[in-house]
Amino acid sequence: MVPLPYRSIILLVLLLSCAYAGTVPQDGRCSSDNDHQDPATHRLLTECMDKAFCSAPVNGTCVSKQCARDEYPFGYTQGEIVPPLCPRGTFCPDEGSGCKALVAIGQSCQLDRDEQCAPPPNWSYLASGLNFNGSLCLKGKCRYANITLGQACQIENTTYLDLDLTGEPIKTTVIRDNCRTPELFCDTATMLCEHTKVTGGTCQTDGECKTHNCGENGYCIDQPETPLNVAPWQYVILVLCIVAGGFGDRKFTLKFDHPIVATITTCIALNFVHKRDHKQRRREVQDYYNEQTRSVFYC
Ligand SMILES: *[C@@H]1O[C@H](CO)[C@@H](O)[C@H](O)[C@H]1NC(C)=O
Ligand SMILES: *[C@@H]1O[C@H](CO)[C@@H](O)[C@H](O)[C@H]1NC(C)=O
Ligand SMILES: *[C@@H]1O[C@H](CO)[C@@H](O)[C@H](O)[C@H]1NC(C)=O
Ligand SMILES: *[C@@H]1O[C@H](CO)[C@@H](O)[C@H](O)[C@H]1NC(C)=O
Ligand SMILES: *[C@@H]1O[C@H](CO)[C@@H](O)[C@H](O)[C@H]1NC(C)=O
Repeated sequence: MVPLPYRSIILLVLLLSCAYAGTVPQDGRCSSDNDHQDPATHRLLTECMDKAFCSAPVNGTCVSKQCARDEYPFGYTQGEIVPPLCPRGTFCPDEGSGCKALVAIGQSCQLDRDEQCAPPPNWSYLASGLNFNGSLCLKGKCRYANITLGQACQIENTTYLDLDLTGEPIKTTVIRDNCRTPELFCDTATMLCEHTKVTGGTCQTDGECKTHNCGENGYCIDQPETPLNVAPWQYVILVLCIVAGGFGDRKFTLKFDHPIVATITTCIALNFVHKRDHKQRRREVQDYYNEQTRSVFYC
């Protein structure tokens, strides 16, 4: 919980930054020199309304967006035709000014847009779930995630501030680096690439863990979706126990507390629970979609 006075300040900052979100309609006058990031959410803001971008630094006009970054771009109502996605080997910049060719190493890219960077020659060797084809956009420049053990690395530390449904600010800090992943991470104390820690090692940030998941108590833990592997011998013993329990009972009558009946009932019940969770997840995705397609400002 953030103390109340700070809450109001954060709220005010968020509201102010929203108030400055683009208001110039299509064909209106604008300057792309005023494109900037929302300090709280890091969303790109221009003088134009959501469905347009500003064409030039001087005497620009708000032109409708030429491309979209995903299938549900912000600001379009349901059923409205959205700009096309960009073909492979190109990307749609945050302002939506049209598909651009991938950016070479060392050139400018936009925050959290690794997919704007061209892959390194030996991309398959460097690619991991923490970069795009071995490249990443770090501190505004395309870089390869190729720094090896004990070599100097770079860190990007971004704090995102947003409000949850109750108006409570949520702060998320994302730390990224250009060490080879997932074997290495950039140690913030030495600024050198070090080995990531195995499950159970102490950590402060997700990046320090090989599983990229630092638990709340400061130890590396498995990813939540890691499947629990049950060894075949464990299955065999389980089945044997159930069967022995069931048929060991000489007077085999079908009662609810009978082990076999109980097992089948449990399986059916678990199946129902799983289906309900699945439905809930679908509803969340649907809500996300609806929020993206609503044209009103969400703030
Ligand atoms: C911008 O517009 C003004 C007024 O229409 C004009 O005088 C000026 O030359 C324009 N500047 C550029 C760089 O086009
Ligand atoms: C990664 O880059 C290679 C070489 O440019 C390309 O063939 C491949 O499709 C890329 N993979 C992805 C997931 O974009
Ligand atoms: C790819 O890059 C890594 C380090 O950046 C290097 O050790 C490796 O030999 C390279 N592999 C190829 C096939 O070039
Ligand atoms: C990483 O890639 C850059 C660009 O190709 C290269 O200059 C640098 O030497 C590479 N670093 C390592 C450690 O391979
Ligand atoms: C990242 O930035 C936040 C806020 O500026 C700071 O509190 C934190 O210590 C930084 N973390 C690292 C690893 O630099």
